[in-house]
Amino acid sequence: MFFKMFKWTALLLSIVIVVTNANDIKHTEIIEHLFNKNDLKTLKNVRPNFEQNKTVNVNVTMYVMDIGLTSPDSMNFMIDFYFRQMWYDPRLMFENDFENIDYVVMTSKQSESIWLPDTFISTAKQLDTHVQKPFSDGNRFIRIKSNGQVFYSHRLTAIVNCANRIGYFPSDHPVCKLEIESYGFSASDILYKWIDDSVLIDSSPPSLIGFKIIKNNSDDNKNDHNVIEHKEERIKLSTGSYSRLIAKIHLERKCGYFLFHIYLPSIMLVILSWMSLCIDPIERSTARILIGIFTSLGILIIMFGVTTTISRPNEYSLTAIDIYVFVCMLMIFISFISSVSRCPHGDNGKSYQLEQGQIVRQHSMNLYSRIVMPMIFILFNISYWLTLWLAK
Ligand SMILES: *[C@@H]1O[C@H](CO)[C@@H](O)[C@H](O)[C@H]1NC(C)=O
Ligand SMILES: *[C@@H]1O[C@H](CO)[C@@H](O)[C@H](O)[C@H]1NC(C)=O
Ligand SMILES: *[C@@H]1O[C@H](CO)[C@@H](O)[C@H](O)[C@H]1NC(C)=O
Repeated sequence: MFFKMFKWTALLLSIVIVVTNANDIKHTEIIEHLFNKNDLKTLKNVRPNFEQNKTVNVNVTMYVMDIGLTSPDSMNFMIDFYFRQMWYDPRLMFENDFENIDYVVMTSKQSESIWLPDTFISTAKQLDTHVQKPFSDGNRFIRIKSNGQVFYSHRLTAIVNCANRIGYFPSDHPVCKLEIESYGFSASDILYKWIDDSVLIDSSPPSLIGFKIIKNNSDDNKNDHNVIEHKEERIKLSTGSYSRLIAKIHLERKCGYFLFHIYLPSIMLVILSWMSLCIDPIERSTARILIGIFTSLGILIIMFGVTTTISRPNEYSLTAIDIYVFVCMLMIFISFISSVSRCPHGDNGKSYQLEQGQIVRQHSMNLYSRIVMPMIFILFNISYWLTLWLAK
């Protein structure tokens, strides 16, 4: 029984092997046929439809698997994506010569003999093809359909600077722009087109830490990918007009970190510094000074943190968070100054005699700073957050 089963499995397996071998042989035969049929030099160097004076339409799709900062103190993002191009090369048609074969797959070596578009990404500072080769042929994949449609797929990693509105940090709005164009062929030779529903990004890329993707597809939350904003363009250069594809990935910083580490502590320190204005100026002058020193030190520590420890795009540009912390520091400084200046002078404040007029003036000044300072701070906060919110 067991032996019988074994025999059958072996037979089935050998049939499968024979069939796949036959297919492989068929594929090699077809590719050889294509190479024999065409002049190899023109097949590689001359674009399709050149003689007919027709442009090659290259359809492009893109799938971004991963995106993330290359280092915390820059705005360079690594974008890891599949890039697929499709076009018709009538010279590679084989539907009339071989029946029942839909497509053939070329190895990297074989693909060096056919024409490929010289596409490049002009906004990338660096572009790597993944050349690790555990899967036989690196990362290139070329499939040719019997009607001459070539499908060319790549896995690429691009480094792109996505800085945008840095002055609004941490509410800035990084945009990673990929501009895809041909290096040498003008728009009358190659015309790029997006395939509309296939410009996508994974909805939770593993390396995207501290940021989130701003979605463009509003309705479906169930999808595990989002549509990337994309468009087609023609650009005019001195050498002619070129076809260009543009894809824009919009990102947003997650602000929770900054709220809890910078903004809320700063607000608390400012409120604490007002407390010193409510403490009896004569009886508890030490308490006032202590609060003043404590809040000043506190805001200095936060300021130090803003400039050194938090990861920020560019050390030397003034941003929204710097302005906020500076204003908090100013508020604390003013309350400290006004509380110190109202401390009684002299030994322990006991031998000091206050005149009637001075007390009255002091009360009005106390009242003045108790109301005016919080008003100013609240107004500042309203305009600050409104500005950030409106600029979104
Ligand atoms: C090719 O076509 C373009 C317009 O489509 C025309 O301007 C050009 O003269 C043509 N070139 C040749 C060699 O026929
Ligand atoms: C490219 O897309 C257009 C329309 O979207 C389609 O008609 C054409 O066949 C496509 N070309 C290839 C090579 O897939
Ligand atoms: C979404 O994409 C379309 C076109 O692809 C574009 O017109 C629109 O501005 C995009 N919306 C956002 C919010 O990016």
